[in-house]
Amino acid sequence: MANSLQHIAIIMDGNGRWAKKRLMPRTVGHVKGAANVRHMVKACADAGVSYLTLFAFSSENWRRPPEEISALMGLFLQYLESEVAEMKAAGIRLRVIGDRSAFAPLLQSRIDQAEQETAHNSRLHLTIAANYGGQWDVLNAMRSWQAANPGKQLQDLDASGLAAHLSTADLPDPELLIRTGGESRISNFLLWQTAYTELYFTDAFWPDFDAAALTQAIHWFEQRVRRFGRTDDQVAENPVAAPGEQLSTAPLVPPAFKIS
Ligand code: FPP
Repeated sequence: MANSLQHIAIIMDGNGRWAKKRLMPRTVGHVKGAANVRHMVKACADAGVSYLTLFAFSSENWRRPPEEISALMGLFLQYLESEVAEMKAAGIRLRVIGDRSAFAPLLQSRIDQAEQETAHNSRLHLTIAANYGGQWDVLNAMRSWQAANPGKQLQDLDASGLAAHLSTADLPDPELLIRTGGESRISNFLLWQTAYTELYFTDAFWPDFDAAALTQAIHWFEQRVRRFGRTDDQVAENPVAAPGEQLSTAPLVPPAFKIS
């Protein structure tokens, strides 16, 4: 039986190299990359995927040259201004995760507006990670848990308690993470949420990653044996792992367990 797939997360890498290969400025690669976001949202909706999370700007991307940062901010703003009406009509709910307080007031207000205007949609949940870092998310979740539970000690915090305070608290964990651009790393993306995610790395640069490439990644995912710590035989007996099984709050070692 093929694995079920609800949530795809993507690290959209390779815009700069796509442009360089064509002797064009890096920003042209980002323009192409932004156009591809539009295509990929449609391709995911067509494939029946319910959640798509895209890494658009990491907390480390502030280290880039200022003109590239402004180009990326401009593209994000333009994307929000040009796509929201269509998202509303197409049943797409947009959310942005990350520390948005660092963005210009106009961009912040467009983000708020887009989130509000699409809040009732549910065909595809599109989440854009902007000024996002996985370490920031986990630290933030711990602080938020502490603020919500002032009388409690850190020993009272368990995995599901922390997950409830992550920026992705309303989303299932991604089953598949795709990274384009030939690198094989997570780069501080959804560190907690990808604990049991299948990782798919492709050499294709992001502007070239099209619907056919997405289908190939989904087929690859469907063939994976997802064990969540169990043996192959156990998986063969009971192939469907309970959602969130890997974050079980029950002790993983049974109390009466003895080594014989
Ligand atoms: C990585 O490619 C890409 C980024 C840091 C930015 C991603 C942004 C977009 C796809 C466009 C704007 C986003 C939205 C949501 C409208 P890179 O620049 O690191 O490429 P390189 O590794 O080839 O240099």
